[in-house]
Amino acid sequence: MTRLMQVDYLVIGAGVAGLRAAIELAQQGEVLVVTKEAVAESNTHYAQGGIAVAMQGDEDIALHLQDTLGAGDGLVHRPAAQVLVAEGPLRVAELIQWGANFDRENGQLHRTREGAHSLPRILHANGDATGAEISRSLAVFAAAHERVHFAEWTTVTALLLASTPQANRVAAADLLDRDNCLQRVSARAVLVAAGGAGQVYSDTTNPSVATGDGIALAACAGAALADMEFYQFHPTALSLPGAPRFLLSEALRGEGAYLLNDRGERFMHRYHPLLELAPRDVVARAITRESMGKAPGETRLVHLDMRHKRGLDLHHRFPGISATLAKYGLDLARDLIPIRPAAHYLMGGIKTDLDGRTTLPGLFAAGEAACTGVHGANRLASNSLLEGLVFGARAARAMLAGDLPLTPSTAALAAPLSLSAAEHAQIEQIVARLQTAMWTYAGLLREESTLRQGLAVQQECAAALATLAAGKSSRRLVEALALSRVARAILLSALARTESRGAHYRNDYPQHDDARFLRHSLLVGDSVTFEAW
Ligand code: SIN
Repeated sequence: MTRLMQVDYLVIGAGVAGLRAAIELAQQGEVLVVTKEAVAESNTHYAQGGIAVAMQGDEDIALHLQDTLGAGDGLVHRPAAQVLVAEGPLRVAELIQWGANFDRENGQLHRTREGAHSLPRILHANGDATGAEISRSLAVFAAAHERVHFAEWTTVTALLLASTPQANRVAAADLLDRDNCLQRVSARAVLVAAGGAGQVYSDTTNPSVATGDGIALAACAGAALADMEFYQFHPTALSLPGAPRFLLSEALRGEGAYLLNDRGERFMHRYHPLLELAPRDVVARAITRESMGKAPGETRLVHLDMRHKRGLDLHHRFPGISATLAKYGLDLARDLIPIRPAAHYLMGGIKTDLDGRTTLPGLFAAGEAACTGVHGANRLASNSLLEGLVFGARAARAMLAGDLPLTPSTAALAAPLSLSAAEHAQIEQIVARLQTAMWTYAGLLREESTLRQGLAVQQECAAALATLAAGKSSRRLVEALALSRVARAILLSALARTESRGAHYRNDYPQHDDARFLRHSLLVGDSVTFEAW
């Protein structure tokens, strides 16, 4: 069965950016929030450490700006960072008013520290479940609004353009529900807030929904992507055979955790004066280097050590992490915890201005799916939840101001054929191959030859997926196609940036090349250019 419908505003994604935008948009129209699973299942939900915000006046704001610029390794778009740190306090105060409960000590908000922050400014909730609290409070507040509607377990398969006298503009989207029914929704404006793409790598802290769908949808529709070579690898994910790469929050190091090599020695003094609280890209590469054995392929264990902090009541401060570690017989107060880096956050994404406008009229983006340049080449810890709040609200205001007309679509929709179990098994094999190739060839340390090998695998995966996709659709197929497209964007952008900067490290070009590359990469189709903004 297929259906046609229209709303004023379509929001793709129910993480912090999408929910914050929906609340704003509901002031003026009917909003449909589409999400692939239940509203609670987003990357936002899994954010542990906290939300960085400078709530203690101008000096605090100036330092937050300085830290954000510093972590971004020369490439932060300063106006975006200024907006982030200046509007952040208001957005967080509003969130508290709407019901978010951050942890307090003696009635005052408790602030902690993380890597590359010059002072403690990270708010947290329920110890290490900050994202879940933000997601819960925003979802409750949004759902109370009669103009906000949710389409859960629904996948967006395409963005559709309508011609206007001025230009093509995004005017509708096709949605696939859990019964594989296709529905076309027209909207005055569409916001992509569908998060990141950690699933493009075999090792990731991201949940299974983080497949870069929003980025791929925008790119397919013709929008420009920016800075796709900059993928942040979180330094400390749990490293146990057969266990997922569970995130061990940077807040652990904020509370004093050490990193130890296989000889039981701290090593960060050899890499950065801020030691374990150096910027994430530096710590992640240091761990990778310390874990390399003498023979190719040989690995050495690196551990996180909090045993000297057992007086902090670690189980109370980090209840979620403690509970997960207990499942593996590990205890922060007693044991060394084996760790390794894992893909965590995409600094790049759909290129937007400071109000979420993409290069396509009618299409907006916010949060991890977007690239305002606010994080430059490496995001400062705990700036992402703040980004979602600030730029989600701004994008919504720009959508309201756009006052675009509805252009209801009358096209008949062909119901897609379902894929067989054997075809779905094939998709899983292709995805696994792509993820392993991306980790091996486009991970923390890259070079021309590895990136080209990655591109060859991606091309084979894309061809195999195209064959499966003929006349057929399913959520998993849409995700696999998105992963392939995002992988290609990362590989092409990483090949073009022949220097090392932030999270993008090229063994064959280990230095900065400011003269050529103090610029953002821009990807349209398969073509990469560099622009200063
Ligand atoms: C963490 O808790 O370490 C993750 C927070 C972030 O990615 O900023």
